[in-house]
Formats: sequence, structure tokens, C-alpha cells
Amino acid sequence: MVGKILVVDDEPVVIKSCERILTPEGYSVDSASNGKEAIGILEKNGYDLVITDLKMPDMDGIELIRWIRNSRLDTGVVVITGYPSQESIRDALSMRIIDYLPKPFSPELLVEVTQKAMEWKKAGVVIEAPPHDEYSEEAARQLDSITKKYRNKPGSLIPVLQQAQELVGYLPPSLQKLIARGLNIPVSEVHGVVSFYSFFTMKPKGKHNVRVCLGTACYVKGAEEILKRLKDELNIDIGGITSDRKYSLESVRCLGACGLAPVVVVDKDTYGSVNRVKATDVLKEYE
Ligand code: FES
Repeated sequence: MVGKILVVDDEPVVIKSCERILTPEGYSVDSASNGKEAIGILEKNGYDLVITDLKMPDMDGIELIRWIRNSRLDTGVVVITGYPSQESIRDALSMRIIDYLPKPFSPELLVEVTQKAMEWKKAGVVIEAPPHDEYSEEAARQLDSITKKYRNKPGSLIPVLQQAQELVGYLPPSLQKLIARGLNIPVSEVHGVVSFYSFFTMKPKGKHNVRVCLGTACYVKGAEEILKRLKDELNIDIGGITSDRKYSLESVRCLGACGLAPVVVVDKDTYGSVNRVKATDVLKEYE
């Protein structure tokens, strides 16, 4: 089984199609014919992905997505949309759905969108908040003018991603979607580049980003102990961010300052010969 999917649609033919197409691909597919039934099922079982219609008689798909966003953060959402639902797609996008399927959709498109949605999940992308927590309206406007400037220019994706990351601090799925639309390229292309280059990050950073080097030179001089101290002090794990968004913690392989090992870098400041006590003192400088 490559993933667990719940299909929600009031049209039995859509449910049957999804089951017929996705089951042979190795997915386990359950179904619900309306939003309320879907919530009942989701309350009892975990799913990797919910593929849902937006317009259903008893409960709007948007309401279902809102419930999923509040209660099932690790569940991805793909929306099925027909002509009458085109307006709602905007609301759905603002709730960070992974993608949408225009009705009627081909088996190939369904498989492609589902696979992509599963990739987001594997990439550890946590879908946790409405986009306005991630980037401001102003940032969205600036990004819009950046993508307009680069649209149809070859080799423009990396510079756009660099500018977007500078603007927002990281590249969450909703931002990648915005960039893909702006440049008129597939989201999968944007995601491929973001995942390939370590310079790009999909996770939010704190106001101060703390990086601990675990490269050989630092490791043999006790970097692991320092990392443990910082984890305890900040009460977060590697890749985490403190609840006040003040600090994030990362481990890196080599910071190119092996002579100073063990090394900790906070934002652009490098600290060498760090020990457990000094690690705590370093944090105090940013209080
Ligand atoms: S191994 Fe840590 S800076 Fe090179």
C-alpha cells in the first residue's frame, strides 16, 4: 500500500472512477458521499490524502477542508472542481490544498496529481496554517511582480526562488504554487528544484537560525553534546522552531571553519570552540 486516500464526492461515478484508477496503483481507497460522513470517517482513521469535491449538498467542501486543516494537519487535500466551483477554488487555495483536479479528469491526471500529493507528504511538508501566517499580502504582491518580470524567460526559476526565499524566509507549498502559476510552469518543477538544492528550505525559520556543525572535525570535538544542549535549551528538535518563532535549529555537515571546531553559527555570526556552557551563552546574546 503506497498511501491511504479518502475520496469525498456526492457523485458515485467519481468515487468509482477514483477507486478503479487508484487501487491498481497500490493505494488504499475509502469513500464518503458527503462532508459530514467524511468527518466521521476521518475522526476514526488517519489518511495521507483526502480528494474532495467542493460543491456537495449537505456541507460545502470548503467547510470540510477547514475542518481538516484544524484537526488533521498531516493530511493532504486535493480538490475536485467542476465549473460551478471555480470561485471556491480561491478559498481552497488559501487553505493550502496541494492541488486540484478539474472535472472531468483523465486517469493519467488523477494518478499524476495523487503521486505529487504523496511526494509533498514524504518531503515532510507540514500543512499547518493559513497562508497569511506564512507570507503577507505585501510579500504576495512583491512576488507577483517578480514572477511577472521573469515569466517566459529561460532559467528564471532559481533566481525567482532565491528572491522568494529572501522575501518570506522559506518556500512553503502555497508559495511554490504561487510561483508555478506566476511563471506558468508545473508545480512539480518548482518542487523538484526546491527539494534538490539544500540552499532552499520548505520549513520556516525562526527570527534567529541556529546551525550546529556535525561535520567530522566538529563531531570529534563534541558537536553532538552541543547540539543536545541547544535542543534542551530551546526545547525543539533539529528542523524545529520555537513556539514564539524566535529560534530555529539546524544541523549542517561542514561550515568551512573546521579550524574553529566545534562550530555554531547563529544567523551570520560564527562561534568557534563552542562547548556546552558557551552554547548557552551564545543563545543569551540573542535574547
Ligand atoms: S566540520 Fe565543522 S566546520 Fe568543518
